[in-house]
Amino acid sequence: AVDRAIRPRRLDEYIGQSAVREQLEIFIQAARGRAESLDHVLVFGPPGLGKTTLAHIIAHELGVNLRQTSGPVIDRPGDLAALLTNLEPGDVLFVDEIHRLSAVVEEVLYPAMEDQQIDIVVGEGPAARSIKLDLPPFTLVGATTRAGLLTSPLRDRFGIVQRLEYYTEAELTTIVNRSAGLLALAMEPDGAAEVARRARGTPRIANRLLRRVRDYAEVKADGRITGAVAAAAMDMLKVDHNGFDTQDRRLLLAILDKFDGGPVGVESLAAAIGEERGTIEDVIEPFLIQQGFLHRTPRGRMATRTAYAHFDRPAPPRIEDPT
Ligand code: ADE
Repeated sequence: AVDRAIRPRRLDEYIGQSAVREQLEIFIQAARGRAESLDHVLVFGPPGLGKTTLAHIIAHELGVNLRQTSGPVIDRPGDLAALLTNLEPGDVLFVDEIHRLSAVVEEVLYPAMEDQQIDIVVGEGPAARSIKLDLPPFTLVGATTRAGLLTSPLRDRFGIVQRLEYYTEAELTTIVNRSAGLLALAMEPDGAAEVARRARGTPRIANRLLRRVRDYAEVKADGRITGAVAAAAMDMLKVDHNGFDTQDRRLLLAILDKFDGGPVGVESLAAAIGEERGTIEDVIEPFLIQQGFLHRTPRGRMATRTAYAHFDRPAPPRIEDPT
């Protein structure tokens, strides 16, 4: 609820993702100039990087309504048909977790995206009829954690495909300072940098940590968020200097201790740490890979030398340095 207060509303308030921002600015301006709807947009990347925020910004910049739903919520073709036929011209329909649409619902989306039409079946048995309905022009914004999760016919129908990347520490520092300003916090530069350093490259995590650091500063100190106060708060939360949380450490330590550094298949790893395979693939390992702690090989996941060093363990001599 409070997130609404700090979520950017315009593209020029959106920090980082400069390539995405630059492209969207052009495509949105061009669509507006022609008084057309924006082409359909697929946004993919790990959770918390701003996919939903971007969908809201796109609608705002286009000056249209945003209708929001998600793949698992749309049970039947009729549910999607109802959403589509209720759009006003130019509206944005945001479908989060779009990879979780059922096959029959996805079928409805194809002609909707391509021809602004839907075929709906009314009646049953021999009396069943297919009727075509014209839709208003609209922009579908689909979000997913990995583009590879989409079927190719769906992926191919997006004219604009944007991948969100983990944020740099500098970008996160800017985001933390912006949020601290909006929340009227007494934030010192070292405090913001410390939160940014431990935010796992992710604005949602940065803003969540910021709220807990604020609590800590108010109760355990005088409310000022210094570097030391921020560090103490996040130590308490068991978020370490690399931004790793308990889950990250469990995964890395399982590879080190139970699988001899790997390679280990993701299913074995999931069983060993009691996590869903999907959570490992979408949430935990992308950051560990990006940071150079984990390597994906055809035979499975391997811990890198950096991972051994993080836990003060000597790397076994046999380990091949993944490059
Ligand atoms: N809050 C969350 N993500 C953001 C971003 N990319 N820019 C500014 N504020 C944000």
